[in-house]
This record gives sequence, structure tokens and C-alpha cells, in this order.
Amino acid sequence: MGIQQARIVRTRTELQDAVAAERKKGRQIGFVPTMGALHDGHISLVRKAGEKCDFVVVSIFVNPTQFAPGEDLDRYPRDEAGDVARLGEAGCDLVYCPSVEEMYPAGSLTNVRVEEMSDLLDGIHRPHFFYGVATVVARLFIHVKPDTAVFGEKDYQQLQIIRRMVRDLGFGIEIIGGRTWRDADGLAQSSRNAYLSEEERARASAISSALHRAACRIRIGAPVEEVVTEARGLILAAGFAKLDYVSAVDPEDLQDLPDGPLREGQACRLLAAAWMGSTRLIDNIGV
Ligand code: PAF
Repeated sequence: MGIQQARIVRTRTELQDAVAAERKKGRQIGFVPTMGALHDGHISLVRKAGEKCDFVVVSIFVNPTQFAPGEDLDRYPRDEAGDVARLGEAGCDLVYCPSVEEMYPAGSLTNVRVEEMSDLLDGIHRPHFFYGVATVVARLFIHVKPDTAVFGEKDYQQLQIIRRMVRDLGFGIEIIGGRTWRDADGLAQSSRNAYLSEEERARASAISSALHRAACRIRIGAPVEEVVTEARGLILAAGFAKLDYVSAVDPEDLQDLPDGPLREGQACRLLAAAWMGSTRLIDNIGV
């Protein structure tokens, strides 16, 4: 059997006609939103959606509202033809590539903001970011109307914010998290890894090894603050130019955990963001 070629649609009307036809056949719709420049982590999300649903839609849209002026919107990697070929192999049925006007019709004034959770961690350093993400994902959900949507755990704060938005606004969509894909040295796969020079790439995995060590130490009862301080030192010592944060938080509400060893039954997520040269890398790990 040959490899399936995913169909591309660019307008909301074409998308909704195609999805409605599948629904009529009683099919469950799975959805994976992306900004393209797909790597193995994205492909695993598409496969996960395919395990759960009969018809898989993937969007490719580099969303301008989640980039602040001066960030990498213009140089964000784009490879639509390569992405669409990979998506066909991964079992995606329909690729939605809307224009900016399709997602943000002229004169639209409505945005979505998940309070509190958007102001922590990455939200401190990129205040525009989660507001842009929640807004575009809400709009994409309204366009696609999926039963299930899959997001990577690599963007853990984003995943939790989307879960909260879906709950608060009653979207009725099941949100599934897909595990982070890592290179052999532990570096989490990200479209932005393409910005790293060879020498930066060689040092970049220190962020994941520091988090891994921190998770092991917390698991065996080391005090949270001491472990986090050590992880900050390890990341900076590896040659990261700047550290935005390393934090140990409650996995649900993302609030900082109190100092001391974890209490019985207390779950913890470790998150970090740091700059390798001019590239901002994020990572996280469950404890
Ligand atoms: O994770 C991403 O690629 C983006 O933030 C998303 C969810 C596609 C929204 O633009």
C-alpha cells in the first residue's frame, strides 16, 4: 500500500466541509495544532491522535500573536512541503494551513486570556505569549471542532493552560499530553534547536541533564530549594548565557512548591528556560 498524501485546506469553509463529511460517517476527529517545522515529537503527537481518533487534522500556522516585537517570528523555520510529506506518512488526513486573515479576520477584537497561570514561569519573561497561544488555540478549536486534541508535554505550561481554558470555557474537547521526544544526549526536540550552532548544540543538553539530576534528588528527599539552586548553577556552568528560571511547581496549578522535601503524595514538575547564545530553550520533567 502506498503512503497516504494528506490533503491541504487553507480556508475555514473548506476545513469545516471536510470535517463535517467525516462526522457524518460517524468518525471521531483528532486535532494536533502546530507551527510547522515538524520534528519527531510532533509526528508522535499525530500518531497519538490517530490511535484515538478516526480522522486526524493537523494545523500549520505560525501564530503572530504569540511573538513579541523583536522575537523570531520572521525567522521561525518554515517548510510546508516537507511538513505535509511527513504528515502523510504519519497518518494525518487533513492539513489546515490558514492565512493570518483567516485566523484573525480584519477588525476582530476578541482574545482569550487564562488568568494567573499565564503570568507565571514563561509568562513572566514572555508576557504576550500565553495570551497569543490561548487566543489562537481557542480560534483553531472553533474552526476544527475536534473531539480530541493532542499537545506536547515539552510545552508543559502551555498544555496546562489549554486544559484550563477548555475546562473554563466548556469546549468539550478531550486534551491529551504527548511525551517529550529527546535526542540521544537528552536535549528535548524543538523546532528552535535548528538555530543552535554546532558548538551550542553540544552544550545545550545540560538543561535536560540538570533537570534530570534535580528530579532524582527530589525523589530521594532532598529539599526543593537546594536542588533548584544546584540545577541553576549547573545550567549556567554549562555555558548558557542567561537563565530565565528553574522552578519546582505543582503540576496542576503551576504554583511554586514550598521549600523542604516533598510531602507524602505531593507531585512536582520541574521547569526551566535558559538562553544558549541567542536561542531560548525550555524543558521540563515530572518528579
Ligand atoms: O506549541 C505550538 O506549536 C504553538 O504554541 C501552538 C499550540 C500551535 C499555538 O500556536
